[in-house]
Amino acid sequence: MFPKRGWQLWLLHFIAVLGLLWILSQLSQLKTGKSAAYVLRYQWLQYTDDDESPEKVCNCSAILRGEKEEFQKAKLLTISKNFQKIIQIPDEYYINATKDCRKFKITRKYITFPLSKEEEDFPLAYSMVVHHKVQNFERLLRAIYTPQNIYCVHVDKKAPASVFIAINAITSCFPNVFMVRQPVDVVYAGWTRVQADLNCMADLYNTSTNWKYFINLCGQDFPLKTNLEIVQALHSLKGGNSLESEEMPQGKKKRVMNVYQVIDGKMQPVGKTKDPTPFNLPILSGNAYIVVNRGYIHSVLEDKRIQALIEWAKDTYSPDEFLWATIQRMPGVPGSTWPNRKFDITDINAIARMVKWQGHEGSEGSLQAVYPECKGHHVRSICVYGAGDLQWLIEQHHLFANK
Ligand SMILES: *[C@@H]1O[C@H](CO)[C@@H](O)[C@H](O)[C@H]1NC(C)=O
Ligand SMILES: *[C@@H]1O[C@H](CO)[C@@H](O)[C@H](O)[C@H]1NC(C)=O
Ligand SMILES: *[C@@H]1O[C@H](CO)[C@@H](O)[C@H](O)[C@H]1NC(C)=O
Repeated sequence: MFPKRGWQLWLLHFIAVLGLLWILSQLSQLKTGKSAAYVLRYQWLQYTDDDESPEKVCNCSAILRGEKEEFQKAKLLTISKNFQKIIQIPDEYYINATKDCRKFKITRKYITFPLSKEEEDFPLAYSMVVHHKVQNFERLLRAIYTPQNIYCVHVDKKAPASVFIAINAITSCFPNVFMVRQPVDVVYAGWTRVQADLNCMADLYNTSTNWKYFINLCGQDFPLKTNLEIVQALHSLKGGNSLESEEMPQGKKKRVMNVYQVIDGKMQPVGKTKDPTPFNLPILSGNAYIVVNRGYIHSVLEDKRIQALIEWAKDTYSPDEFLWATIQRMPGVPGSTWPNRKFDITDINAIARMVKWQGHEGSEGSLQAVYPECKGHHVRSICVYGAGDLQWLIEQHHLFANK
């Protein structure tokens, strides 16, 4: 009896081992991201109609193809009372939902392992400066989250307690997402906007030594690319940084020639002229959003010239719109370029951020126009994109769009 059973058992083991090997080979194919199984098995990460999102009545592929009828339908939907009501998710929802982190991550379809070796070997560091709309923050985090990246979140000190508690609860579900150690009270156009990013830069630099690039975001940003596409775009910068850095327009020069202070919560000139910049550094014009390598961040934190520039910039107007641009043209800063005009980079040429300013909109072929008219609405002369902007947006090389 036994000997007979013996070989049957052996055969069973053999089959089981073969099965295991097959599963392992499938898993390793998944990791390299090259097989058809990869595409099939990751479909669960995509949002579908089963996810009960209120947008499910829209045909997204038609919107992305620029079909006018479809994005007009979407526009009508967004202004309907019922839609506006169901898309409001209270802060308390996140506080409760994150009590069970495992369930929260599954229902929100967070990515739980690197989707490719290429991405795993190229971790990114994000600084996220937010002040309200927990729901937008969570959507943004969900869209850019991968376990190999790290994320520092700065919530404005002025934010309501429920915003702070909800965002803190979300970050607590992830080992690689953390709240900044020192939050500040962010004043529009004031120094503290820069300080918020600086505090995150220090924490990110200190927390992990292996990330390759730094990207800063605000709560109104959203990615135009997947993590893999971002990694590939950064690879092709070959160590360079990508941010707006150009000649300061005449109209903005007063921002760095006069002393400003926070008076009644607003930045106002106090009637004093500023000293020249330390080391006579030429001031360049840019914006708050940057894509820079780790070495640039090291310089920001350690370079004595930059420490002096930072001290000098603290009583200027909107230092976020010249500090990073100026550092980008300083000799010796990793990934920087020479201060010569020939190296000027506009916000359109840089990959950091796509922003549509009302004053630059217009029809194709017009000499003044930089981009087509906003199909959403404007807030402080900046386009809050509508469904009709999407086809154009996804064709841009920028990694992120605002607002
Ligand atoms: C959505 O639009 C695409 C492109 O126009 C079309 O091929 C598809 O059939 C539409 N899907 C539905 C469900 O209407
Ligand atoms: C709180 O979260 C739990 C677990 O995710 C869920 O089952 C429950 O319905 C939630 N309660 C409220 C009031 O949202
Ligand atoms: C890095 O972390 C250590 C230990 O927590 C701390 O003492 C140090 O001040 C930090 N450095 C920076 C630049 O934040």
